[in-house]
Amino acid sequence: MSKITLSIIKADVGSVGGHIKPSEEMIQEVKKYVKNKGKNILIDYYVGHTGDDIAILSTHRKGVLNPQVHKLCWDAFLAATKIAKKQGLYGAGQDLLKSSFSGNVKGMGPAVAEMEIEERPAEPFLFFAADKTEPGAFNLPLYLSFCDPMYTAGFVLSPVLKKGFRFVIMDVAYTKADKIIELNAPEEIYDIAALLRDNGRFVVESIWSRATGEQVVSASTTRLHNIAGKYVGKDDPVMLVRTQKNFPATGEILSPYTIGHYVSGFMRGSHAGPLMPVKRNSTISYFDGPPVISCLAFSVKNGKLTGPADVFDHPYWDYVREKVARKAEEIRRQGFFGQAMLPMTELEYTGVMDTLKKLEKRFTIRKK
Ligand code: F6R
Ligand code: MG
Ligand code: MG
Repeated sequence: MSKITLSIIKADVGSVGGHIKPSEEMIQEVKKYVKNKGKNILIDYYVGHTGDDIAILSTHRKGVLNPQVHKLCWDAFLAATKIAKKQGLYGAGQDLLKSSFSGNVKGMGPAVAEMEIEERPAEPFLFFAADKTEPGAFNLPLYLSFCDPMYTAGFVLSPVLKKGFRFVIMDVAYTKADKIIELNAPEEIYDIAALLRDNGRFVVESIWSRATGEQVVSASTTRLHNIAGKYVGKDDPVMLVRTQKNFPATGEILSPYTIGHYVSGFMRGSHAGPLMPVKRNSTISYFDGPPVISCLAFSVKNGKLTGPADVFDHPYWDYVREKVARKAEEIRRQGFFGQAMLPMTELEYTGVMDTLKKLEKRFTIRKK
């Protein structure tokens, strides 16, 4: 059996009533486009949205960064952009940063997470999509699931998991080329932690099993303001995670999302807010947020998808959502002060800079 590739390509190409959700017509257009034009390219696909981002999950045998697969998704987003423009939707085409397609969508705006795998006899995997946040939002949950037995009991219970995982981490501040480092858990978890704590700069790109050599995680690393040089929206990441057997169990991968950790991307992409696990096709609301994450579980056989099972659609996560809502309210009480608003380098608007420049002239040095 030849290998299959799992691809997620996602973009925000316009939304209803602000940055809330794409229109039904846009989603139907993407589905129709992928169904018709993808006939001889894809084995299977799923289209959904998280907040204002449309994600296309597909399976095929063409490998990662395949021009045909990427062009198909790019063109599907272009078709949806046309509808968004016609409907007068907000931010129509905002993530399509280049005017013409060249090779693959990396560096062109859309987020990409892909993996070429040898299917196991049973192949469960998770498809994560977040909105109003950035790729570094996955740092903490990935660290906990792949380094910490408090979250992944498998490190204590399974001799295979005990062999650990290899992290590939990218320095996204370096924009001339991909700058990466490989670090091994568990021996180097303190080094991994030292990088991942700085989640605006160091981002997990992939994780590999040291026992079998297989890839377990692929996450998107795009930072839009590094591409465009200015504010064009947050980087709303996507991620694929294979689960079970020699990898963490589905529940072990999900367990860190109970924290609702604070991430960047709340209102105007310029505030910190807690990451709320939400049901599929959820919208955005309070303070243009809070930052949300959805997760759909699939099984795949010869590239054919079964699912999804919506993993955050469960009474347990209703309880978590309430806790996270309280965390959101708590940080919102301090408005733009201190930790509530992001540091200067992460602000998505230039207003504060302009004000400081103007005020600088009015500062005086007091004589002793
Ligand atoms: C966009 C986002 C929003 C916008 C805000 C202001 O993803 O997070 O919070 O930044 O709605 O948008 P503008 O400046 O376009 O009116
Ligand atoms: Mg948006
Ligand atoms: Mg978005």
